[in-house]
Amino acid sequence: MSLHTPRKKPRIYFDEDGGPRRPHPIHSSPLQKQREQLPIAKGREALVREIRQNDVTILLGETGSGKTTQVPQYVLEAGLAGKGMIAVTQPRRVAATSLAARVAAEQGVKVGELVGYSVRFDDTCGIDTKIKYVSDGMLVRELLSDPLLSRYSVIVLDEAHERTLRTDFLIANLKTIQAKRKETTDAKGKGKAPASGINPLKIIVMSATLDAEKFSRFYNNAKILYVKGRQHPVKIFHTAVGQTDYVDSTLRTFFQIHIDQPPGDVLVFLPGQEDIESLEKSIKTYARRLPESCMNVLVYPMYASLPPSLQARIFSATPSMSRKCILATNIAETSITIPGIKFVIDTGKCKEKRYLSRDTGGGFDTLLTRDITKTSAMQRAGRAGREGPGFCFRLYTEEAFNGLGTAAEPEIRRCSLTQSVLELKCLGQDLETVEFMDPPDINSVVAALKALWILGALDNSKALTPIGRQMASFPVEPYLARIILASNTHGCTSEVIDIVSLISSSSNLFLDISDQRDAIADARSKFRHPSGDHLTMLNALRAYQEMAETESKGSRRDWCRQRFLNERTFTEALKIRDQLRLTCQRVKLDWKASKKDSEESVLRSFTTGLVQNSALLQPDGTYKQLMGHSVVKIHPGSTLADKKVPAIIFDELIYTSHIYARGVSSVPRGYFSGATPTLPNGS
Ligand code: CDP
Ligand code: MG
Repeated sequence: MSLHTPRKKPRIYFDEDGGPRRPHPIHSSPLQKQREQLPIAKGREALVREIRQNDVTILLGETGSGKTTQVPQYVLEAGLAGKGMIAVTQPRRVAATSLAARVAAEQGVKVGELVGYSVRFDDTCGIDTKIKYVSDGMLVRELLSDPLLSRYSVIVLDEAHERTLRTDFLIANLKTIQAKRKETTDAKGKGKAPASGINPLKIIVMSATLDAEKFSRFYNNAKILYVKGRQHPVKIFHTAVGQTDYVDSTLRTFFQIHIDQPPGDVLVFLPGQEDIESLEKSIKTYARRLPESCMNVLVYPMYASLPPSLQARIFSATPSMSRKCILATNIAETSITIPGIKFVIDTGKCKEKRYLSRDTGGGFDTLLTRDITKTSAMQRAGRAGREGPGFCFRLYTEEAFNGLGTAAEPEIRRCSLTQSVLELKCLGQDLETVEFMDPPDINSVVAALKALWILGALDNSKALTPIGRQMASFPVEPYLARIILASNTHGCTSEVIDIVSLISSSSNLFLDISDQRDAIADARSKFRHPSGDHLTMLNALRAYQEMAETESKGSRRDWCRQRFLNERTFTEALKIRDQLRLTCQRVKLDWKASKKDSEESVLRSFTTGLVQNSALLQPDGTYKQLMGHSVVKIHPGSTLADKKVPAIIFDELIYTSHIYARGVSSVPRGYFSGATPTLPNGS
């Protein structure tokens, strides 16, 4: 049975008396039937009653029980949102977009009408939108322009167990916001919602694991409600011996399942996009060689930045004589539930953002592949038993499982806090004084304050500067915002925004295939810039746009393929550029400012934002960080690979066999002087 049935006929809309324009739910439709069969549906009345009676409700329930899709609809249908909107936060953008699509279908509307989503650089919400799936980062940004989040009457903090930095930030801030809004209401209406002004705020915290007590304690012992899931038994297998290459082991395990086992879809958990893409290729190649009698294999990737256009097929019914194989990151652990899964392959790995302090040679967040926790392993296995008995193949030994950690550390304890400190400063708060569920580490706070001071966002007394306030208006990381502001001084904002858009895009523009590097360099020679990757990116974008003016979709794709460029990066960057231009207009910055010979201005602008990401050539031929102690190598995929230049700036460092700098440009050492502020004596 498909859990995702496309709408066959457009719905007829009726105006309800006084209320927002909503279609009448048609109870006999298959989607409505599915809604009624979800485990959460039985508790609907009790749930609505509790939410009505309490300011804060904690809802705990197994993955797939219907929390994320149903609770917002129950709240809306019970009229609990009044005139306000319902926000449902999601740690990952792909969850926000795919859930909005599902709930819109259940309501019989198009995304952007009654139900919409808002993620960075992509906002579909319109004037009719009442249920908004929003990335936690976007809601933090909304806080900056509307500190009481007054347009929302109900905020659902979903996937709270993931403890992302942004969700923790919201958990802390919503507590104060709720109290303030209550004060306003009490003063005006003695406990009743005033006819105009800000309504009281209801908070619903939803989690998939058993850590609800902590949320409850934080919100003054808020009531905890439980939804029971519908879990079938899952038979778990461990490998007899440890595996060294989890991609190869996955490939073999998948085909063992495919050949030996009855129909049923397969869900594979992998750490990241690169592994997913390489495995997708190999599975397709091997699948072609199977005898005709074998079922078809349909391979679908699922990771955080997957474009919405590629998401729908994951949820569609598997055709007969076929087996779906979904290659996912830990997004499929609890955020989204894919129907039809009978087999899970768990590599036991995930990627985790972690801040590497300057003392250990870092000073930045990096994504590290590491072992999952026991809780994750259990969640992953559970995905196989949603619709019937299932099987989970763990690509690690039972002993290795027993040695896994119990729960992951919250992001606030392990990620860079630079952006959060800046956002709090804009709200007139300090990270040191805000009440968080888990307080941040003081060293990370100091590192963040220092980074912001170097960027000129804070002055010597840690107060927000006008530059800092302007930086916070841009929907990009503080250092990129600083580069855009610097470009205003150097008169090259147009060029800089082009490059920043490409950097902010979710995938790398330059495809890097290690055994084809010479061919790649040749193919790109026309737009290669001697100063390095930043201006090469700019040249590539210009060449692409010039070509795209006259060429068809197919030839555009070929053009990119021949040059080993990722076309998706271009299309995404052009959207991001529109947003950045709009922000420039809002903060009265001329985004059209451009220079014919822009090399020096562009590189000076980038140096202002990247002082902390720079390295100097040493007499022994290595590059050593200007701020920090690490020796870094230029990534072999860079246009500057193997070059020895006096100084480099770079977008990021990646840790593999060495510390590699990626997105590198060569700059004269003189550009660094004056790029950092000076501390008063004795500080
Ligand atoms: O939040 P929770 O894990 O409790 O469940 P949910 O996300 O609300 O999912 C409820 C049901 O909706 C599951 O059976 C999913 O398979 C289905 N769903 C879907 O078919 N398509 C989506 N894009 C999202 C959910
Ligand atoms: Mg959910």
